[in-house]
Amino acid sequence: MFLNKTVLITGANRGIGRAIAEAFAQVGAGLIVHSRSQTAAFAEDMLALAARYKVAVEHVVFDMTDTPGMKAAINAALPPSRKIDVLVNNAGIAHGGLFQMTPVSVVRSVFDVNFFAQLELTQLMVRRMSRQKVGAIVNIGSIAGLDLAAGNVAYGVSKAALMAFTQTLAAEVGSMGVRVNAVAPGLVDTEMATQMEKKAGTEMIQNSAMKRLATVEEIAQVVLFLASDAASFVNGQVIPVNGGSA
Ligand SMILES: NC(=O)c1ccc[n+]([C@@H]2O[C@H](COP(=O)([O-])OP(=O)(O)OC[C@H]3O[C@@H](n4cnc5c(N)ncnc54)[C@H](OP(=O)(O)O)[C@@H]3O)[C@@H](O)[C@H]2O)c1
Repeated sequence: MFLNKTVLITGANRGIGRAIAEAFAQVGAGLIVHSRSQTAAFAEDMLALAARYKVAVEHVVFDMTDTPGMKAAINAALPPSRKIDVLVNNAGIAHGGLFQMTPVSVVRSVFDVNFFAQLELTQLMVRRMSRQKVGAIVNIGSIAGLDLAAGNVAYGVSKAALMAFTQTLAAEVGSMGVRVNAVAPGLVDTEMATQMEKKAGTEMIQNSAMKRLATVEEIAQVVLFLASDAASFVNGQVIPVNGGSA
């Protein structure tokens, strides 16, 4: 389904992003994997992935908050003539804390990674996609941006903004052949989930009908569907992947 297609995934070195890279490689996509830094372990891992699925894997390296670095890396990897089929905005950081205890500078720094960096990268990609008249963008939101419980002023609100942006961008570029959707995972079994306060994590699992964390593969498969032609009329949607609410 993804033969001869190129997919850019941010934060592909671990967690959900790594599983998304594997899911696209399995169906034959060429990958441009992003990481904040280049490590020998990640380079080796990607070499093995490329060999396992016989796909091309290229790397782009930049901090999401370094806009000039992002632009330079993207322009080097993707000259204007090169087609890009899918962008997965996955990289993100967690933060928990009550509003009255959270300096606005901290909220701003979470937004810089979880929202503004996604806008910068999306703008670089969507201009190409609308010129090509084809493309799919999948943003990784969060259930925390839908239920917006206490303590979510930075993380949850940044994800709410990303999911709102998903809908407004979809309305702007749908007629140009570009679809934009988001996945809103519940708690997923990654390092990010282990950083969460134990009580909040337990509550999230209790509030899920299936009473467990998601696996990274369960999120990756929904991303793959949204990016694929099987979802050719799915646009501007936010898909919760949280095992249902109890
Ligand atoms: N895990 C969950 O329960 C859960 C639930 C809902 C939504 N999500 C969302 O899913 C996405 C992936 O989360 P995850 O659980 O896989 O988290 P993770 O294991 O903590 O991985 C986060 C990824 O984002 C990258 N990243 C963070 N800040 C960056 C920066 N400034 N520049 C470049 N890369 C940066 C990390 O790079 P480094 O390795 O260099 O740090 C890493 O690759 C995030 O957007 C997260 O908000 C996660």
